[in-house]
Amino acid sequence: MPKVRGRTLRVLHSADEIAARNLALAQEIATAGYDNLLVVSVLKGSFVFAADLIRALHGAGLAPEVEFISLSSYQAGTKSSGKVKLVRDIESDVRGRDVLLIDDILESGRTLSFARDLMTKRGARRVGVAVLLEKPGKLAQPMKADHVGFVVPDLFVVGYGMDVGHAFRELPYVGVVEERRTRIARAGARGSRARMRAGWSRRDAGESRRKSRGRAGYRSRPEP
Ligand code: IMP
Ligand code: MG
Repeated sequence: MPKVRGRTLRVLHSADEIAARNLALAQEIATAGYDNLLVVSVLKGSFVFAADLIRALHGAGLAPEVEFISLSSYQAGTKSSGKVKLVRDIESDVRGRDVLLIDDILESGRTLSFARDLMTKRGARRVGVAVLLEKPGKLAQPMKADHVGFVVPDLFVVGYGMDVGHAFRELPYVGVVEERRTRIARAGARGSRARMRAGWSRRDAGESRRKSRGRAGYRSRPEP
């Protein structure tokens, strides 16, 4: 398993697997009948996926215009704040146009429904949605992606543009940062005798978990 920043990464989708899926997604999008297409990449998480997907779209015979919108729903930690903020808008007029939103993950659906409603309100003729990943069962409101790369389990993933506190975006694969397993935590997992030998108590366990989260920076996630 690869190591980055001293942490072990478990690869969920390799670079090769993602590349192959992007080609298939581009074919799917090319046959979906979008006209006068404007692709809107939802920053920041989708920038790597969007960069690869638009080149695959070219390979599939499409010639889209490309724009960027910056939306923020995560303010701290790895949980969504529930509110979506427009950080940076697109410059194009979408009236009468077909728009394809590209995002990294569909989770609660808040980010993408905000973006979709915005484009619809502005008069887009059709708004399609392409996501690299979908985490099922977590929707806070109705939202369906038209094109989905992979369905993933409910884990916090990084890489291929996705981050924790701006780290790990550069990874060419999608992965999960493995928990740090300290000597005490390992003893905790083995049972109470081992815990006692290691001088461990419930309070120690909470404390050691909080400390290791702090070191990993999981609780200081300013935005997606
Ligand atoms: P939603 O609004 O809850 O659907 O959240 C979507 C946004 O949250 C995505 O565009 C990501 O930027 C971010 N996000 C959700 N889950 C993860 C994750 O596991 N890793 C990194 N970012 C995530
Ligand atoms: Mg995002």
